[in-house]
Parts: sequence; structure tokens; C-alpha cells
Amino acid sequence: MSKYIYGIDFGTTNSALSIYDEEKKEIISTITVPSLLYFHQEYTANEATNYVVGTHAIAAYLSDGMKGRFIKSIKQILSRSSFIETRIHNKRYNASDLVALILKDLKAKADEIIGLDCQKAIIGRPVFFDDDSAQKDTLAQTRLTKAAKIAGFHEVRFQFEPIGAAFAYEKTIQKKEKVLVADLGGGTTDFTFLILDPANAGNKDRRSDMIASGGIYIGGDSFDSAFMWEKGTPYFGKNTQYEATPGKVLTVPISLFANICSWDKMNFFNGLRIQKDLENYYHYSKRDRKFKNLMTLIDNNLGYSIFQSIEKTKIELSDLQSSRFTYEHMEIEIDEQVTRTQYDAVIEKDIKKISVYLDEFMLKNNIKPEDIDSLFLTGGTSLVGGIQDLFKTKFPHIPVNSGDNFTSVAKGLAYSGYLFEEN
Ligand SMILES: Nc1ncnc2c1ncn2[C@@H]1O[C@H](COP(=O)(O)OP(=O)(O)OP(=O)(O)O)[C@@H](O)[C@H]1O
Ligand SMILES: [Mg+2]
Repeated sequence: MSKYIYGIDFGTTNSALSIYDEEKKEIISTITVPSLLYFHQEYTANEATNYVVGTHAIAAYLSDGMKGRFIKSIKQILSRSSFIETRIHNKRYNASDLVALILKDLKAKADEIIGLDCQKAIIGRPVFFDDDSAQKDTLAQTRLTKAAKIAGFHEVRFQFEPIGAAFAYEKTIQKKEKVLVADLGGGTTDFTFLILDPANAGNKDRRSDMIASGGIYIGGDSFDSAFMWEKGTPYFGKNTQYEATPGKVLTVPISLFANICSWDKMNFFNGLRIQKDLENYYHYSKRDRKFKNLMTLIDNNLGYSIFQSIEKTKIELSDLQSSRFTYEHMEIEIDEQVTRTQYDAVIEKDIKKISVYLDEFMLKNNIKPEDIDSLFLTGGTSLVGGIQDLFKTKFPHIPVNSGDNFTSVAKGLAYSGYLFEEN
């Protein structure tokens, strides 16, 4: 029997795997990989050479002139019942098949480190995969279980991601604390309120320490979508007018622009079908210059590179008061200054939703600010200024802690081996 357990955080943006040595009772290594897949445009009979994972996916996509299939935020399709499968290279891939490719990559790298085939894993899951619909949630977990099996994991347990983050934090504290953990990722924001005590770390049953868990389907991707909507779409002809019939001027459908704000729509639903419509709008708008940019974006698969610019602007604004949103490619030219205040306005609705959700979460679970000894914030989105302000304003007297924003969940999952001992 292997003495290792893998803690796996399959994230919307980044995935991580921590290797736990059950004999030494410690984590011996942590690997991270961006949750990205790229299928080359050209393919061969050998499936393994037809796709690339993680940072290599970006490099291959760019060096192929963005012609193949680039897939981002795959975690979000786990709960979409409308997503059945996608055809790539004449092969059908369902959600589990796609997720399995990321898990397989992590497993292969970790197995190489330990020199063994480890089939035992604790896999994280958000508190809710989607807007609190039990049916979708079950679907997502079933698909994730299947993906783990395809990737070669035969002993699998699930743990809430924020509980994983909490266990990583528990390793750093000296005394018992009641902690509110917030894990703000690319897809979701999850909360858990629990009792942490270094003396209990590794105990068989921690169920009585968990006081409440909850989550909302908003994360860094939502901020990027809001930014695309507010600051990006005007460059792609939102509000373009066209002459539908002689003398009758209409505005092009707003849904076209909603589609370019969301990754999964851009990836899976933007087919050739709308090509004709776009050409017609373009023609009858008297060849609107900005509308042309929309066609260039869709025709040339530029979604990823635009979103990279959007993310770069966001990340810079985590440290600076002002940044530039720039993009220059194939006649599309964007160069606009964005201040922290303007960015705060773009994400205001999402921040408000997180705030309202947190208030409801506390009310529902009867948690008062004075019950909380400390806050632990993790996940990439916890670095956003507006998010930090939210917690400072809500809990001015409670100390805020943070750890490694991109690996704490995987580490804490790896510390959750007790799950294998419960019945
Ligand atoms: N310095 C930064 N400032 C602001 N946002 C950041 C920063 N670094 C990363 N992000 C954002 O954090 C998000 C990724 O965070 P993380 O890796 O924790 O998410 P994830 O675990 O993949 O997602 P989830 O937990 O929702 O499935 C992305 O939206 C990314 O743009
Ligand atoms: Mg995460």
C-alpha cells in the first residue's frame, strides 16, 4: 500500500496537488498547473501528442497562431447540464474527459516525484458548484468523480475547498481560534466558519469543528467579464446601429456582446452559425469600424489574448492606483487608462453580491462579528483591492491573515487524510 495521499485542488484558473507522506506526516512537495488545455489544430492518431496542458497550452496556442482549440475555465462546465460533449479531432470529449486531462497531468508529475502510481486522493470541491441548485451540484460532483477515475484515482474522498484552506492555516497557528475562511478564486467565493486548534490537527473526525460553510458563484472570472462588458465591448461595437430595412435603424443585439464576456460561451457556442448575421450587421451598419473588431475577434479566436490583457490590468490594480488597459492585434487597438476607482466601479455589483451573501451567511448561521477571532483570506481574487476593503470595512477589529494564495487549498486537502478513516 502506498504511504502517500494526494490533495488535489482542481481550480477554475489554477490547479494544485500536494503530496502527503503518511509516515513522515508531512507534505513533501506541491505542484501547480494552470487549468488550461490546448488541442493542436493538426492532429495525429496518438491522442497524447494532440493536446497540451497548463503553461505549455498557452505557448502552443500562441505558436500555432491561435488556430487550435484552447479551453479555459473547464471547471465551470462541470455543473452545466447543457454541456454534453464537444468534438475535437473527431473525438467526443465530455466534461469528465476534459477535466481528467488536467488531473492526469498533475498525477503524472506527482507520481514521477514519488516513483509510484498513487491512486489515493482527496479532491477539493467548492461549497456550491453552481447557484445553489442541488441537481447541478450533484451532476458536477458525479462528473468530477468520473474524471478522477479516468485519471487513475481509485480511492477518492471529497472535501470542501475552504476547509482545505483552513487546515493549511491551522498549521501556522499556536492556539485555538474560531476562524472565518474566505477562499476567493477564479470561479467561486467560498466561506467556512470553523474552530481551528493545532492540538486537533490530523484528528480522525473534525466534523464537530465545522460550524458553517457556504459559497457564491462569483470570482475573478466574474470581474474579468464585468470589465469586458464595461470597458472592452465599446471597442467591439456595442451599440452599433444598422439599417434593418430602408429607413428603419436598429441597434445590433446586445447578446452578441454578452457572449464575448464569458469564456464558456466564447469557447463552446460561438460557431459559424452567427457568421452570416455578423456579416449582415456589418454591411448594414455601413461597415462600422468597431463592429469589424468584433468579427476579427471571433474569426481569429482572440478571446484568450484579450482576457489576458484584462487580467493584467486587474492584477496591476491590486498594487497600483492606476494601470493601462492595452491591446493591439490585427487592427484592434485599445489603450486606455484605468484607475482603481474606475475598476472598483466596474466590479461594484459583484462585490455587493459577495457582501450581501456574507451577511446572509452569518445571519443564517447565527455568527456575530464578535464570535470571529480571525479571518483567513486565500485564493488569487483575495488580492483585489476592492475585496480587501470589503473585509476591512465589515470586520474592522478582526485580524486578517493570508497564506499562499495558490497552494493553501491543496495543502489543506492533503492534511485531510482522516476522511479515509471515517465510514
Ligand atoms: N495579484 C492578483 N490580483 C488580483 N487577482 C488575481 C491576482 N492573481 C491572480 N488573480 C486572479 O485570481 C483568480 C485565480 O485564483 P485561484 O487560483 O485562487 O482560483 P482557482 O482556485 O483556480 O478558482 P476556484 O477556486 O474558483 O475554482 C483569477 O481570476 C486571477 O485572475
Ligand atoms: Mg480555488
